[in-house]
Amino acid sequence: MNAPTLTIRSGQGDYPVHLGTTIDAVAIALSAIDAAVVIDARVHALHSTALAPLLDRLPVLEFEATEDSKTLTGAERVATFLLGTGKTKRTTLIVIGGGIIQDVSSFAAHCWHRGMPWTFVPTTLLAMADSSIGAKTAINLCGHKNQLGFFQSPTKVYIATDFTRTLDDGDIASGWGEILKLSLTHPDPFFREAVAAVSRGGFRTPELPAMIRASLTAKQRVIEIDEYESDLRRILNYGHTFGHALEGLSHFAVPHGIAVAWGLDCANTIAERRGFLAPAIAREIRAFVAAHFPINLPVWPTADEFVTAARRDKKAAGGAISMALLHALGDIRIVPIQIDAQLIADIQAHLDATAGLRS
Ligand SMILES: NC(=O)c1ccc[n+]([C@@H]2O[C@H](COP(=O)([O-])OP(=O)(O)OC[C@H]3O[C@@H](n4cnc5c(N)ncnc54)[C@H](O)[C@@H]3O)[C@@H](O)[C@H]2O)c1
Ligand SMILES: [Zn+2]
Repeated sequence: MNAPTLTIRSGQGDYPVHLGTTIDAVAIALSAIDAAVVIDARVHALHSTALAPLLDRLPVLEFEATEDSKTLTGAERVATFLLGTGKTKRTTLIVIGGGIIQDVSSFAAHCWHRGMPWTFVPTTLLAMADSSIGAKTAINLCGHKNQLGFFQSPTKVYIATDFTRTLDDGDIASGWGEILKLSLTHPDPFFREAVAAVSRGGFRTPELPAMIRASLTAKQRVIEIDEYESDLRRILNYGHTFGHALEGLSHFAVPHGIAVAWGLDCANTIAERRGFLAPAIAREIRAFVAAHFPINLPVWPTADEFVTAARRDKKAAGGAISMALLHALGDIRIVPIQIDAQLIADIQAHLDATAGLRS
């Protein structure tokens, strides 16, 4: 029997992740504390009745989830709201939304009077399965992703999977991009279980809560060993070098997790061409990515544009980039890759090999 709560060990204080709860139960559990709320505007509109016990009692700031609002201006809006509530730094900021609302609100919570506690109620699959643990908080700067940030743990996380019912298919797929990544990076990989679950029930399979739990357990193992990304945690960047590049080059038209699914397939091409990854494994993963993560872009970036964007990646230094490359299912290693003509040729080979798969 799986425990209803995972406890994440953190240098900033351990925190519980309550699994298998419901929107109604969360609203009641959180309605009795001294708090202020930042909520995704769309979630507010869709779930106001179930959240009424909470929202009717507390000061509420509604926030649009766009990458343009995940900025210093957005963080200032949250801080200005807190100032207006007359609350103190001992008040808890309850954050209800996906990764965007999480990032901008937790950034503001960390700055507000040098840090106030924050509790997270993730409403997207991506936030439930991945971003809700690990304490990363980041905002964009001048159109570049996640340039300013801290490590700032939540005090509690509540996962109510009934929020996923109102998510668009694209946002469900985006969450699955991070589940796919975590299924491949765990030493006890659950990639084939994930593929089987999707073939039985699609992305909205009744097995979703089990997939969320498996993903969080996989991420928990890594962040409890290396909370501040000095070493092991870098494996969680699998798929992110060229995934972030695709997100930025598409001006965020491609959602984060879908870009990560593309990015890990691209990283697999690099690993395969350099002899790290067996072609059969790369093919098996590509088949899943191609079938379930379609990307509609009128014009695709060129290999040169991808490599130029990767130069700005936080993991790039001295003409090389540290890439998380898959060597076998569950075996992921950090490899320095020179940013050179060979890398451009690898990306071009990937674009050519997947041309027929892209819409
Ligand atoms: N801090 C971290 O560790 C971390 C990790 C991964 C990603 N991220 C960041 O997360 C962001 C992406 O977040 P995301 O994918 O969770 O989504 P999001 O916050 O971008 O939201 C996606 C869309 O879903 C809507 N939405 C949210 N919940 C809904 C619900 N229950 N029903 C209907 N619509 C709903 C939002 O309004 C928005 O339109 C990116 O900025 C990424 O960089 C952060
Ligand atoms: Zn990610």
